[in-house]
Amino acid sequence: MIKDLSEFLGKEVTLKGWLYNERSSGKVKFLILRDGTGLLQCVYFKGNVSEEVFDLASRLGQESSIEVTGKVKVEPRAPGGYELDATGLKLISEAHDYPITPKDHGVEFLMDHRHLWLRSNKQVAILRIRHRIVKAIRDYFDGHGFTLMDPPILTPAACEGTSTLFETEYFDLGKAYLTQSGQLYAEAGAMALGKVYTFGPTFRAEKSKTRRHLTEFWMVEPEVAFAELNDDMDLAEDFLEYIVQTVLKDKAEELKVLERDTTKLQKVKKPLPRISYDEAVDILKKNGIDFQWGNDLGGTDETVVSNQFDKPVMVHRYPAEVKAFYMKRDPQNEKLALAVDVLAPEGYGEIIGGSQREDNYEALLQRIKEHNLPQEAFEWYLDLRRYGSVPHSGFGLGLERTVGWICGLDHVRETIPFARMIYRNTP
Ligand code: 4AD
Ligand code: MG
Repeated sequence: MIKDLSEFLGKEVTLKGWLYNERSSGKVKFLILRDGTGLLQCVYFKGNVSEEVFDLASRLGQESSIEVTGKVKVEPRAPGGYELDATGLKLISEAHDYPITPKDHGVEFLMDHRHLWLRSNKQVAILRIRHRIVKAIRDYFDGHGFTLMDPPILTPAACEGTSTLFETEYFDLGKAYLTQSGQLYAEAGAMALGKVYTFGPTFRAEKSKTRRHLTEFWMVEPEVAFAELNDDMDLAEDFLEYIVQTVLKDKAEELKVLERDTTKLQKVKKPLPRISYDEAVDILKKNGIDFQWGNDLGGTDETVVSNQFDKPVMVHRYPAEVKAFYMKRDPQNEKLALAVDVLAPEGYGEIIGGSQREDNYEALLQRIKEHNLPQEAFEWYLDLRRYGSVPHSGFGLGLERTVGWICGLDHVRETIPFARMIYRNTP
């Protein structure tokens, strides 16, 4: 593999991959090979190789699959720092008229060719960082006494509001819905195991056409028994620091490919600032925004608030009206929910949403009624308050928004292999 070339300096190697790019100057042909682990410049001198090999090197189309043989040399000017003094070339499968050329393409064209766009250097770097983030998430929770629990994807009811449910017919049982969040099931798990996390795809029939919204996205959701809102915030900041610092340490190369300014990520260390919703409203007003107390923070409001800080900021105690039915009210002020949103810096907006959960049976039943939710569908959830209810809290981190922020991308569509959005469900 190209990434292991440093161990083969001065030796002859054979590598398989695809032709990424090529150029020639007279009697020399430069083929850039990619193999998924890196790029390698392979140099074919007309005098050094057979006529057959030189001809082949001269007529290959971009993305032809090939096998190259040659000696590994140090070449600081070449991508990756090594070069192949090539002698052999075999064709595996010839490609012509590859649609994605080194010139600039519009993003819709690239999204239509997403299955091929994935091969480009930047997309490979993003996918590798995504993978590292997923592993960091798992390592963090596995190392802190959490048990992974997989919730169902087909569910009988809403969790995060009825307006964004994808529905489907479910045999003789009526309608089923694609899950918006594994949280309610994680709560059942926390009562069984103490600390659990769910991690999987979630769905929102979002009408929003913003750079932060997908209709199918991945969410990780820890849930902890005997934890209150402050404990939830302690967990969120420790977790975020771990993820960001791990990626900085392990994925420096990829972040460089993406030209990410990592000085901003280096600042993501505990403690993170904590402000109340009321304080956030003050910040908005001081910045000349005509904001009505009681509204949810919109995308631009979040940007204005987070621009006051050089780290993610935790905004807690939102008006209960704009938050989900399951959140516990603040005993100090019944109008407020014990909620927390973590807003990423640099305008990336909400990456975490969490709360302390309503653990009182009567109060929860009342919320279910106020939200016009079907009580029968929530009887099992009410059972968690009937039988040994305890204070508990958790949050959900959106994987794609986190990848977008850490990679410094303009839009979440590049953070997931095949994005699903309001106007796109292909390829
Ligand atoms: O704030 P949300 O809706 O919270 C929940 O679903 C809770 N049940 C989580 C919990 O407490 N266990 O979503 C959580 C996170 C958001 O902060 C955001 O990062 C991401 O999920 N998210 C989306 N990401 C991409 N596209 C969308 N349409 C998203 N909706 C939410
Ligand atoms: Mg939210």
